[in-house]
Amino acid sequence: MFGVCYYPEHWPESQWDQDAKMMAELGLTYVRIGEFAWSRIEPNPGEYTLDWLDTAIATLNSAGLKVVMCTPTATPPKWLIDSYPEILPVDPETGQTRGFGSRRHYDFSSAVYLRESLRITEVLARRYGDQDGVVGWQTDNELCCHDTALSGSKVAQQAFQDWCRQRYADINQLNTDWGNVFWSMEYRDFREIDLPILAVTETNPAHRLAYRRFSSDQVINYHNPMVEMIRAHAPGKFITHNFIPMNETAVDNFALAAPLEFTSYDNYPLGRTDLLLTGAPTEELRRYMRTGHPDFATYYHDQTRGLLNRGFWVMEQQPGPVNWANNNPRPVPGMIRFWTLEAFAHGADCVCYFRWRQAPFAQEQMHAGLLRPDNSKTEAWPEAEQAMAEVALLDIENKPLQAAPVAIVTGVEGQWVSDIEKQGEAYDFNNVQLSYYSALRELGVNVDFIAVDGDFSPYKLIIAPSLPIISDGFIEKCKASTAQFIFGPRAGAKTPEFSYPTNLPPGLLQKLIPIRVLSVETLRADCHEGLSWNNHQYQSGSWCEQLDAGDTEIVARYDNSEPAIVRKDRFTYIGTLTNKEFLRDFFQQQCLDAQIKTYHFGEDIRVSQRGNLLFAFNYSDQPQSLPLDPEAKLLLGNKTIEPHGVTVWQAP
Ligand code: GAL
Repeated sequence: MFGVCYYPEHWPESQWDQDAKMMAELGLTYVRIGEFAWSRIEPNPGEYTLDWLDTAIATLNSAGLKVVMCTPTATPPKWLIDSYPEILPVDPETGQTRGFGSRRHYDFSSAVYLRESLRITEVLARRYGDQDGVVGWQTDNELCCHDTALSGSKVAQQAFQDWCRQRYADINQLNTDWGNVFWSMEYRDFREIDLPILAVTETNPAHRLAYRRFSSDQVINYHNPMVEMIRAHAPGKFITHNFIPMNETAVDNFALAAPLEFTSYDNYPLGRTDLLLTGAPTEELRRYMRTGHPDFATYYHDQTRGLLNRGFWVMEQQPGPVNWANNNPRPVPGMIRFWTLEAFAHGADCVCYFRWRQAPFAQEQMHAGLLRPDNSKTEAWPEAEQAMAEVALLDIENKPLQAAPVAIVTGVEGQWVSDIEKQGEAYDFNNVQLSYYSALRELGVNVDFIAVDGDFSPYKLIIAPSLPIISDGFIEKCKASTAQFIFGPRAGAKTPEFSYPTNLPPGLLQKLIPIRVLSVETLRADCHEGLSWNNHQYQSGSWCEQLDAGDTEIVARYDNSEPAIVRKDRFTYIGTLTNKEFLRDFFQQQCLDAQIKTYHFGEDIRVSQRGNLLFAFNYSDQPQSLPLDPEAKLLLGNKTIEPHGVTVWQAP
């Protein structure tokens, strides 16, 4: 299924009919509307003007299109902000109020804004909830985008104090849990608690962790009632939300997704690649600047799918150059079709292009659409047509999603710990997790992302790249599972209140792997040393744990021959950050041991499976010969896969 993001309020009404007809001709099913339209829906307090929206919906419906309605809450209008300036968030880095004039200018802790959001949501849900042509809903837009999860406002501070009272009950408990005796940080009352911002130097990591937990809860407390409000008036309709890269929001995305029918993701491979490869060697960026890095899009597709463990939508798909990265290249011809097939291969049920027509005004006038402002079709148009035909040919939508053989255990707490306590420049939660994912994907292995409390039973191999806080419940789950487990450095290294386990890291993990981390050394990335495994030398660098290996089996050693990787039964612990070659070779061996089939077809080829379809995606600008079985049944493309091409064959 396919759709598009449309803003009828940006175009004269006389154009809507023609737009709708063209959308239908292209073969689209869904049109997402309304997400930033508050100033047109309620131009003055309490004065609702919905006629235009009625007309827009009717126009789209009469062309056979189904509408996905959004709550317009990402953009509170000027009059609302002027009436209640306390809605505005405060930048925790500077203490400055973040003003009106763009979007997401609201504080998740503002009770006023929650009330106003529910009010406007109710107006829309009552009006359109039971309309047949409005088939589903999107809440807000990209919650927490533009670094809005945290706010340093007074309302946030008060809400944080209340949250702390709830969690710790007694101020002395909080002082003890946080270690506030250190540097005389003790509080006498919950009302004395500041936010951990704008201090002279580093604030207490336990305090910061609590602030992150609180802020995440605030996002969910804001979002859940909106979902309930829609549900009350739109029974039987789906409700989704368009997520952005999980590491950018720094909230508990599993909790955020919980009340939704399915998750959605906004896929901008080139913008993301440009931002994520800021500072990377020139050649690396040049190689992928027009295709996107081979793993960035699917890394997020797989995470989005994992939030609810079911099919997801790409709610916004980049159609050409965007406007918001440092540099905004054009996609290589063919990439719109490529990214579309790739999303379906990774479990998408629908891909919607952003946006229908390039807006000739305001902030995103340099952002491509399916149409240019003069209504001519962009290159994305025929590519979307091709992708639609191919998705139909392969009947992808009816191919069931099966569990991957390998799961990555993920969770936002790992990111919080890594953000709060760097210890070494090189340790970044997202880079660590992505490097593990990327190594598996280079081997052509499907990967599921699961939460610590997820279902472990389908997997042969479970990998936790960065899990510093673990619980007894997690340990019990690991014991009950029959999978092989691999833990990355720092596993179990912190208590839930961000202190050092007194039995030494890996803390509770000692119940599975009886080792002790005696000290941690971090080195500058260009000062890395060696790691020997399987008679090969690899790089061990930047993060090296000194291990007391106890009676575990030593799997790999540092240059000084001390243990770097150890194993006890089904549980392996990697005490160091390593390079890509090591991860790939090591995971290849683990997959072999666990009888997991790999497809290592080259650095720029990615293989993915959905149902009985196997897909190869060629990210390079050279044709590559795929080493397929002679009897492999090709369904699309060729055994020599074209540059930026896709080949699909039937799984044996
Ligand atoms: C998305 C956002 C859209 C639009 C788009 C531009 O993140 O949801 O509203 O701004 O980026 O690429």
